[in-house]
Amino acid sequence: MAEKKKLFIKTYGCQMNVYDSERMAEAMGGAGYETTETVDDADMILLNTCHIREKAAEKIYSELGRFKGLKAENPDLKIGVAGCVAQAEGQEIMRRQPMVDLVVGPQAYHRLPEMEAKIQGGVKALDTDFPEEDKFEKLKSRPKAKRGPTAFLTVQEGCDKFCAFCVVPYTRGAEVSRPADRILTEARDLVERGVREITLLGQNVNAYHGASANGDLTLAQLIWELDKVDGLERIRFTTSHPNDMMDDLIEAHGTCSKLMPYLHLPVQSGSDKILKRMNRNHDRESYLRLIERIRAARPDILLSGDFIVGFPEETEADFQDTMDLIEEVKYGQAYSFKYSTRPGTPAAERPLVDDAEATDRLYRLQALITRQQRELQDAMVGRDVQVLIEKNGRQAGQMVGKSEYLHAVHVADVNAKIGDIARVRIVESKTNSLSGVPSSD
Ligand code: 5AD
Ligand code: SF4
Repeated sequence: MAEKKKLFIKTYGCQMNVYDSERMAEAMGGAGYETTETVDDADMILLNTCHIREKAAEKIYSELGRFKGLKAENPDLKIGVAGCVAQAEGQEIMRRQPMVDLVVGPQAYHRLPEMEAKIQGGVKALDTDFPEEDKFEKLKSRPKAKRGPTAFLTVQEGCDKFCAFCVVPYTRGAEVSRPADRILTEARDLVERGVREITLLGQNVNAYHGASANGDLTLAQLIWELDKVDGLERIRFTTSHPNDMMDDLIEAHGTCSKLMPYLHLPVQSGSDKILKRMNRNHDRESYLRLIERIRAARPDILLSGDFIVGFPEETEADFQDTMDLIEEVKYGQAYSFKYSTRPGTPAAERPLVDDAEATDRLYRLQALITRQQRELQDAMVGRDVQVLIEKNGRQAGQMVGKSEYLHAVHVADVNAKIGDIARVRIVESKTNSLSGVPSSD
């Protein structure tokens, strides 16, 4: 048998890119490639990129610059750029970095093997189409490799919300939901391969409305179908928009035992003026009322959010509204960003906040979030959680996994095996994790 070629994939950005990178690796497996962990022995390097903030895109160009030497040593080395920078910049990437052989947008991954054949013939390949066919169907998994206990599964892609700061509606396109039967087949296949927890992914996942034999399913209905899959123990989903948090989904948080008590529900800002300018189509009060309803259904749910500080024309008073909202909600986890201008988005036309001021706000907001996160985490000490064991810890006899609330938990238990769900008594709260011992209660 011919020796396999080596593919190095580096993934930037969101979990959907992680999922896409796995699918691309599988597609390239069919074209005679296996993945490698280092660039040094690679025959092909693929950067799966993120365009959400300017820094993310610029990182790609500097990373590509670093591959120049490798390409000089090995002229047969092929270099490809995938993901949202590929979609947004297309040909421009090859102009700025002529050593790039291949540029493929997120909707064209299934054509990667054909493109690889083309570049082996010395012709550059670019595909940033939004084709009609279902790329995931074309990217069907290769046979049954064993997997770890957790997996991502993309159910919906694209976004129609057009928040004024965001490139996603342009790079990932309009909202498209995958048919339910394909998702269920993929989920059963993952479970057969050892997966016990699936995180359903979508840029706007709670707007899911995938076709099924009984008409379109909502995300909650899809979750109830997944609930029936034997061997699947945990279901999560991300990322949700407040305006698509339907009643049946809120209710499922109270009634579906496989649905984990964790919800990522970005609000971006606590100021009504800024929310309006962001084109979020909800206000502070409606968000807070929504959180109340979710907590009524599932009182212990851990909430997570995204925040942008320094959005154009954000005043100190607007920023304080965001800080007050954070105080009121009490997030167990949050991601925060300084506003980054994305050319082509409506907010790019608006006057910027002074950069030093924006940086200062980011630090203040992060300090508040860190304190809040830590308080909630410390409150776990003495409580029992269910931990899905994912891997061995650094110390002998120690295993590491995730609680139902997505805390990383170190467990001192020689008997726990990867894939088990262990009942654990939390004994210590550290900076970014909890530690515990087996609980006999
Ligand atoms: N600047 C800063 N942060 C942004 N995000 C999206 N676009 C921008 C931008 N232009 C953040 C939002 C979103 C998360 C994925 O990234 O908070 O929820
Ligand atoms: Fe971007 Fe999310 Fe807004 Fe869609 S809902 S435009 S993905 S921030």
